[in-house]
Amino acid sequence: MPAPVLPLGPDGYPAAGGVERRPAGAAESARANRGWWDAAAPAYLAEHGDDLGEVDFLWCPEGLREDDAHLLGDVAGRRVLEVGCGSAPCARWLRRAGAEVVALDLSAGMLARAAEGNRATGLTVPLLQADAGALPLADGAFDVVCSAFGGLPFVADVEGALAEVARVLRPGGRVVASVNHPFRWPLPDSPDPDDLRVVSSYFDRRPYVETDDAGRAVYVEHHRTVGDWVRAVVGVGLVLDDLVEPEWAPGRTQVWGQWSPARGALVPGTLVLVAHRPS
Ligand SMILES: C[S@@+](CC[C@H](N)C(=O)[O-])C[C@H]1O[C@@H](n2cnc3c(N)ncnc32)[C@H](O)[C@@H]1O
Repeated sequence: MPAPVLPLGPDGYPAAGGVERRPAGAAESARANRGWWDAAAPAYLAEHGDDLGEVDFLWCPEGLREDDAHLLGDVAGRRVLEVGCGSAPCARWLRRAGAEVVALDLSAGMLARAAEGNRATGLTVPLLQADAGALPLADGAFDVVCSAFGGLPFVADVEGALAEVARVLRPGGRVVASVNHPFRWPLPDSPDPDDLRVVSSYFDRRPYVETDDAGRAVYVEHHRTVGDWVRAVVGVGLVLDDLVEPEWAPGRTQVWGQWSPARGALVPGTLVLVAHRPS
């Protein structure tokens, strides 16, 4: 089924008819998020494009960059898959660092911006439109899989998506993925530290669903607790090496939705999963 064409609000983002917490399956989530990111791409990149850069690897709104974090190790000569690449600045950073990169995303709108970035920088990374839940790639094809808030927070079946990651990694290969920190889920979606109060249950796994006027999902975000993430990674046979909780970078003033310097000084906003496929 084609993704919906969404009306835009005054801020340029898709205008939601309603917001619910209700189940949303794999096909419904993928269809909704494909349409949402297609429609949101211009506004999202107008708002965050300068921070993301054209050739830069930003892991999270806290300002952690791969240049400093070295979570992926030495990527020169490595085959790297980026899942949920958006406009692909991370993939181009990897290419410049000497990796052989494939950049994958669900949204044609985001990939169109990735193609523009390729042309503008002369760093051409292959772009692939696919769902993180079904990677059209060969077993063991990659040394490294990475994802910076791309795909995993949006899929209904995260075990299925991680199993796909494990499948395309060679034995000994590494996966690093940043996702929303589960701690954020019960808090209001506000950058203001005065709004730091629990308004729903951390244990409520029902997805956050924005709907159109007919009640169809137009945006879906899924929640897992910290334990859910650990079980999902370990459950597909990966070895969990670290759970990184980046702290707000000193001097960084950028606000991303509910991520802000004031709030970032107090609570985590991002969880980075670091794991590998056993040899
Ligand atoms: C917040 S952006 C992250 C991309 C990039 N790191 C950035 O910060 O712009 C989320 C990206 O995930 C993509 N995405 C959402 N659901 C996906 C899925 N099921 N499979 C692959 N990509 C997905 C979206 O299209 C979007 O480009």
